[in-house]
Amino acid sequence: MSKIMMQSNTQKIEIQQRVTTYIAEQSKLDLLRFITCGSVDDGKSTLIGRILYEAQLIFEDQVSALKNDSKKHGTQGDDIDFALLVDGLAAEREQGITIDVAYRFFNTDHRKFIVADTPGHEQYTRNMVTGASTADVAIILVDASQGILTQTRRHSFIVSLLGIKHVVLAVNKMDLVDYSQSVFDAIVEDYKIFATELSFESITAIPLSALKGDNVIKRSEITGWYSGPTLMGYLETVEVGHVQLQHPFRFPVQWVNRPDATFRGYSGSVVAGSIEKGQQIRVLPSGEVARVEDIVLYKSSLEKASAGQAVTITLDHEIDISRGDVLVAADNPCEVSDQFETSMVWMDLEPGFIGRSYIMRIGTQRVNATITDIKFKYNINTFEQLSTRSLGTNEIGELTLSLDKEIPFESYKACKAMGAFVLIDRYSHATVGAGMINFSLRRAQNVHRQALVVDKKARAKLNGHPPRVLWFTGLSGSGKSTIANAVEQELHKKGIRTYILDGDNVRHGLNKDVGFTDADRIENIRRIAEVSKLMVDAGLVVLTSFISPFRSERDMARSLFEPGEFVEIYVDVPLEVAEQRDPKGLYKKARRGELPNFTGIDSAYEAPDNAEIEVATGELSIEEGVAKILKYL
Ligand code: ADX
Repeated sequence: MSKIMMQSNTQKIEIQQRVTTYIAEQSKLDLLRFITCGSVDDGKSTLIGRILYEAQLIFEDQVSALKNDSKKHGTQGDDIDFALLVDGLAAEREQGITIDVAYRFFNTDHRKFIVADTPGHEQYTRNMVTGASTADVAIILVDASQGILTQTRRHSFIVSLLGIKHVVLAVNKMDLVDYSQSVFDAIVEDYKIFATELSFESITAIPLSALKGDNVIKRSEITGWYSGPTLMGYLETVEVGHVQLQHPFRFPVQWVNRPDATFRGYSGSVVAGSIEKGQQIRVLPSGEVARVEDIVLYKSSLEKASAGQAVTITLDHEIDISRGDVLVAADNPCEVSDQFETSMVWMDLEPGFIGRSYIMRIGTQRVNATITDIKFKYNINTFEQLSTRSLGTNEIGELTLSLDKEIPFESYKACKAMGAFVLIDRYSHATVGAGMINFSLRRAQNVHRQALVVDKKARAKLNGHPPRVLWFTGLSGSGKSTIANAVEQELHKKGIRTYILDGDNVRHGLNKDVGFTDADRIENIRRIAEVSKLMVDAGLVVLTSFISPFRSERDMARSLFEPGEFVEIYVDVPLEVAEQRDPKGLYKKARRGELPNFTGIDSAYEAPDNAEIEVATGELSIEEGVAKILKYL
């Protein structure tokens, strides 16, 4: 009895020791992050499934479940369909494609791995960008029977933009081309010509069959002509530098930790470099300097914190610091700017337009950012630079952004964490684009505001009334101009200084060059908003009468003014009524197909949901509408 107990105790200790040794060994292993990119049918999921299976990282019960699943849902007959192991999402099984990024952790005796499995479907580039921004190596999958596709080029281009230096060209499905060396060589040749334009340090081409297992982990006997590494052999040995440790200290503040009056710490992650107790830091954008008093991790105190560590830092004296500020090495700070030249991958179905503003998320900071120019977009196949006024889904281009405040930054090339950002739609909160800062625009440093003595207040005093903008919006034929005219007459009688900016009139002069595409309407309204701002500054009551169909630009206009100055007036009329009125015969023309992009017919009108005044001209007479507006004012 006691003998058995002793035996089981010894066994227990032995197991414990084995586990401890195992954990210790694992923690010494260095980590490689890689991503896999390829088209839908290139066999990505199969490849990852194969790696996990052959590296014996799948448990027996998973294998038997997989065998069952493979028979039910798989595409490989009675063989195991490895893609099913990896494509966990139900939607994927239904559509037979991979969506969303899945991060998988695994290790071999030589290395730990994190793989971001990214989808290859054209519209899912965004997930690829998410996965690629932290990866050291990219595996670009090519179907040997298809060769290099546009998608392969797009993925390679993004991978290069994101600064990944090492690429594996995994020529998969070699079994479909009889393991032909000449097919392999031709694909590699084709890819290398294309990739000379990209900034990779190494391209390693490997002939594979993920399905049959050739050259994934075991060297294939059928590809005797190939002498390079197997895929796993490569992943276990490729050298990648981790440079962020040598970089000057960068610490974007995530939150101000203030549990009581005695403690004030700044929490976040060190994204580059390191910091020690007693060293000087500078707070950006304010530029104030302080000394690090303590570096706190849970309840313990550290002498030093380095890139990758999440800590709380306390300083030797109180400074006003908030989320989004960045603590940097005092003697090696980064730049601060509010205008940038950037490379962007657009992700949203709604294109990105010059003049439109978005929320920029960079580090721990959120700021408003407007696209001021799109310098060009790339033709992915030829690298040709095409001029454009908008950036569509999956398109890649270089554009300039203007922010509403200065932020600390670095170029993405110098420091990924300080130069990578995403743009977010203000209304849907969807991520619409991923970008990298190339540099700040010098004009941001050279154009300054001039202080003037006679100001808006002084002008208002002289006029005897405060300035305003009455922003009329509504369909063509809704009655905007008629009502604005009548309101102006009434205000004029009362001695108020007014001016009307009317769509049809301004489009004869200042805005003669803009048409009716979405991009043009955005520019039309941007100019009107700026002119209105000048006129309000001049002390006038400005009445603007433009369809101004997009919520985004109306809100942008609103944001230029002080609270109470901007009065949005929605001249609301059902489309049928406006179409019946058809004062200029334009609806009829549009219906006959002679006038494209006509608002309400084949161009959108986004009704306001926060207008100060609504005038339903289908129900109210003009006089009643005017009275309603005057009463509000
Ligand atoms: S906006 O959309 O950019 O705000 P804006 O108010 O300047 O339009 O101009 C609208 C006027 O232009 C309409 O009242 C109509 O007379 C004329 N127009 C000509 N083509 C179009 C079109 N495709 N869509 C709407 N209005 C048009």
